[in-house]
Amino acid sequence: MISKEMNERLTQTGAGTPGGEWLRRYWWPIAAVSELKTEPVQPVRLLGEDLTLFQSGRGDVGLIGERCAHRAISLAYGIPQENGLRCAYHGWTYDTAGHVVDMPFEPACLPLKVKAYPVEVLGGLVWAYLGPEPRPLLPRWEGVARSDIDRTVSFKPLPCNWVQCMDNSMDPVHFEHLHGYYGDYYNRKHGIEQRLRTARHLKIEFDLFEYGVYKRRLIEGDPEDADDWVVGHPIIFPYILVVGPGVSFSYQMRVPIDDTHTMHTVLAGKPRDPDQTLQDEVPARREHVKYDERGRVNAPWIVLQDEMAWIGQGSVSDRSQEHLATSDKGVILYHNLILENIEKVQRGEDPLGMIRDPEKNFPHVSFRRERASHKMTRSGVSDPRSDRFAWAASAAPAAESRG
Ligand code: FES
Ligand SMILES: [Fe+2]
Repeated sequence: MISKEMNERLTQTGAGTPGGEWLRRYWWPIAAVSELKTEPVQPVRLLGEDLTLFQSGRGDVGLIGERCAHRAISLAYGIPQENGLRCAYHGWTYDTAGHVVDMPFEPACLPLKVKAYPVEVLGGLVWAYLGPEPRPLLPRWEGVARSDIDRTVSFKPLPCNWVQCMDNSMDPVHFEHLHGYYGDYYNRKHGIEQRLRTARHLKIEFDLFEYGVYKRRLIEGDPEDADDWVVGHPIIFPYILVVGPGVSFSYQMRVPIDDTHTMHTVLAGKPRDPDQTLQDEVPARREHVKYDERGRVNAPWIVLQDEMAWIGQGSVSDRSQEHLATSDKGVILYHNLILENIEKVQRGEDPLGMIRDPEKNFPHVSFRRERASHKMTRSGVSDPRSDRFAWAASAAPAAESRG
């Protein structure tokens, strides 16, 4: 159980709050590049800020303030053109740095500017950085940077704080209950024949490494050298759960829209057959939570059951009412990591997961047997380069779908 104040510190995302300032040290995925073809202008809400993403006729991508400097219509109605984004109302035009570059009726263009943030494109996604300069590098995580995999991405807004999603990823034991017992109850209730049984968890452990946490579990019936116990799978701090890879993987990215909403952004990929041509774009889907007639989340399978649990804890889970127990040691570790890293930012240091050295910015979070070479403790960091392009081509054991 923690105090209300501590809970606010963990969950706030807005500018000027301790949590919001910490979160602004990371790059965030905000859209798929492929979507810009059909929707070259999009409203975006990220870390409590309303913004406008656009692609100009020249192909430049910009992320600028929500409203026109003239009379404040939303720029989401704007018209993309060669030199930027033209406001729908009277035609004032903005470049990607937020400068007004044209005021059609006026004798001269006044030197006005709206806010603007840097964006970069990687892995078929548009990434935004809302923090102070000098900005860190956009991390080239294996799943986004490799050119020999095919990807898809989905975006689903959820009515809850992002930390609830991450708590769930640090809590292996829920698998047995939420996805086993509840999943089976759901099937019985809906006349679905498939019976679900999940094995009991015997042990859980968590190891820090240079970019986050590996979670491990030993379940009944598995040998002590099972991948899920010896290797586990990583959470790239602070917001990416990695599931897989084997023949496929996914990054579940929990992107804070604001304190009470999260954009669950799931990037899924699989290694491309060497005979296939390069994927020319990453297809994107926009999804929405489905509810039953009593307002509960409809959750027939694993990811949806997780979303049900996150949403079921309320818009911001009231952790002052919790009773954390033995199964919650990963959750406690993760909360402590958040608090430590907020303090780091307050001291002017870089938080965990920020990368500034281009020499270290290559796909480097490996997932399976190679992982031992960059396991770390709080006091030591090993060299991740030996893991470069580590990729297990063999089929993933069933355990790896336990997110
Ligand atoms: S409100 Fe945008 S140009 Fe007038
Ligand atoms: Fe789950």
